[in-house]
Amino acid sequence: MDFEGRMNSTSEKITAEAIRAMKSRREKIAALTAYDFPMTRLLDEVGIPLILVGDSVGMVVLGYEDTTLVTMAEMEHHTRAAARAKPRALLAADLPYRSYETVESAVANARRLAAAGAEAVKAEGGRAIQAQVRAIVAAGIPFLGHLGMLPQSVREEGGYHVKGKLEAERQVLLDDAQALVEAGAFGIVLELVSPATAVALTQAIPVPTIGIGSGPDCDGQILVTPDLLGTFPWFTPRFVKPKLNAAEQMRKVIQDWKKLI
Ligand code: KIV
Repeated sequence: MDFEGRMNSTSEKITAEAIRAMKSRREKIAALTAYDFPMTRLLDEVGIPLILVGDSVGMVVLGYEDTTLVTMAEMEHHTRAAARAKPRALLAADLPYRSYETVESAVANARRLAAAGAEAVKAEGGRAIQAQVRAIVAAGIPFLGHLGMLPQSVREEGGYHVKGKLEAERQVLLDDAQALVEAGAFGIVLELVSPATAVALTQAIPVPTIGIGSGPDCDGQILVTPDLLGTFPWFTPRFVKPKLNAAEQMRKVIQDWKKLI
């Protein structure tokens, strides 16, 4: 990287196809979220190949109770900030709640995120959004799926529950995953899927599965970066053990500084 964060000439840009190809090489895919320039740049400098401007921004940055309040304008704003880091990583962004209810709105909003700097988009659901996924891919925008617990449905579902424990649920997930693959998804995030079902899905589909709270055996893992670093200490999902208590360290530094002035 040079000082302005541009890729140097020896680093090859990571594409959706390159992420997909990591599965056949059995190379684990490490993915993390970023919502701004410095975090995108840091993750990129460490060599994280897939960076997601997640709509988790609503909870860990904007102070919303869940992701359903996040707007397209907010996603564009944070995507633009992340894209200014010009990462070598593939930069994906979430289509927010109700922004992909029809094929037309899905393509129009995916184009807006692409114009803001996203190199791929993610949306939640399987067969229910297959036509939208096909149209987004046909518009030339790589698509990342999201199955299992769907945070944008948390209100209807009454909480964050593990999916795929029952045979019937496992079959639904398999059918949804196949539908996304057929529509052209280059990978699928599996959130809170029972580990046995996550393994079955990983073996059944040709594109990478990227797990979050779905056991260790997906093709990759993704975390909400503030959960990993402990910068949002007021809520940490059960399946994450923060590797840094950054909030505590920040409090201490700020208290020490306050005493000195
Ligand atoms: O919004 C987000 O951060 C996500 C991850 C949980 C995968 O979708």
